[in-house]
Amino acid sequence: MKVPKRVTICEVGTRDGFQIEPDFIPTALKVEVVNRLSDTGMPTIEVTSFVSPRAVPQLRDAEEVMARIRRRPGTVYSALVPNDKGAVRAVDAGVDEIHTVVSASESHNLANVNMTIAESLDKLRAVVEVCRRAGKPVVAGVSTSFGCPFEGEVPLKNLESVVSRLVELGVKGIALADTTGMANPAQVARTLESLTPKFPTIEWTLHTHDTRAMAIPNILAAMERGVTRFDASIGGLGGCPFAPGASGNVCTEDLVHCLHAMGVETGIDLDRLIETAKRVQEIVGRPLPGQIIKAGKADRRYPVPDLVHRRLTAG
Ligand code: COA
Ligand code: ZN
Repeated sequence: MKVPKRVTICEVGTRDGFQIEPDFIPTALKVEVVNRLSDTGMPTIEVTSFVSPRAVPQLRDAEEVMARIRRRPGTVYSALVPNDKGAVRAVDAGVDEIHTVVSASESHNLANVNMTIAESLDKLRAVVEVCRRAGKPVVAGVSTSFGCPFEGEVPLKNLESVVSRLVELGVKGIALADTTGMANPAQVARTLESLTPKFPTIEWTLHTHDTRAMAIPNILAAMERGVTRFDASIGGLGGCPFAPGASGNVCTEDLVHCLHAMGVETGIDLDRLIETAKRVQEIVGRPLPGQIIKAGKADRRYPVPDLVHRRLTAG
């Protein structure tokens, strides 16, 4: 299998994950999780989002979280914004990189941000302008890139049209998001084969949800097509409050475990990451979907049972 030497993980658990938690997570605990993630050597952390506090009350403390986290040199601290108001807040809060969002399907865009795709793209033009003046790179996320919970499979030409308008706006990167886990590896491969040669300057990210257990297979398919940036969430937290049936992102420690086993570097300390996932589990007060926190790493060894030991050492 053709694999890259190194990939870049963007941890989105404190944004995509925490945003659906019904009970407010105290700011100090959000800060603790971000700090622990930084200590793993995480290259990028999407810390929070600067959205309407009425739309996502959980993340209403975005400014305070940004102000209180400890910044590790080498980690990029990003945040999600849906409009220029969010971009101004994020820039003022000292975010390093701005992540924006628009959907490839009209109905999901309306459900998510109460705008048509055209209205969102207008807002994103203003976002890019705010960021350009502040010297902050913009990565545009495209929700429902592979399928929409309301409209079904999203035609590639619709996705391509949204992508090309984002490229015209001057974004540095595009994150193709499988918001509700509808993508399959063959579709991911087809989509990337069609899109990436048309937009050679773009840094591509794949943002997966493991709703139907296809997240890691989709990531492997994308890796074979040259993608080296992946969003993931600690413990597999997450889901989109504006997409029915959405569940968590690909689990960061499961993905990192898989990549390291394949000899792909991430720069992340997996043991610390597993400890962080256990702590997040305590904070949200329920077991998380990640497998490695339950099974341990593949190099875990159990004591040899007595009977087996006797047979092995006999004679
Ligand atoms: N941050 C804080 N407040 C914001 C804001 C932002 N980025 N954008 C808008 N608001 C405020 C407005 O100031 C206004 O406040 P007021 O009623 O006190 O005057 C209110 O929100 C409504 O503004 P409006 O522009 O009419 O927005 P809306 O109600 O149509 O909502 C969004 C549009 C985009 C702001 C809202 O849907 C949103 O924040 N969505 C986030 C979705 C999300 O995070 N999804 C998950 C990620 S994929
Ligand atoms: Zn998501």
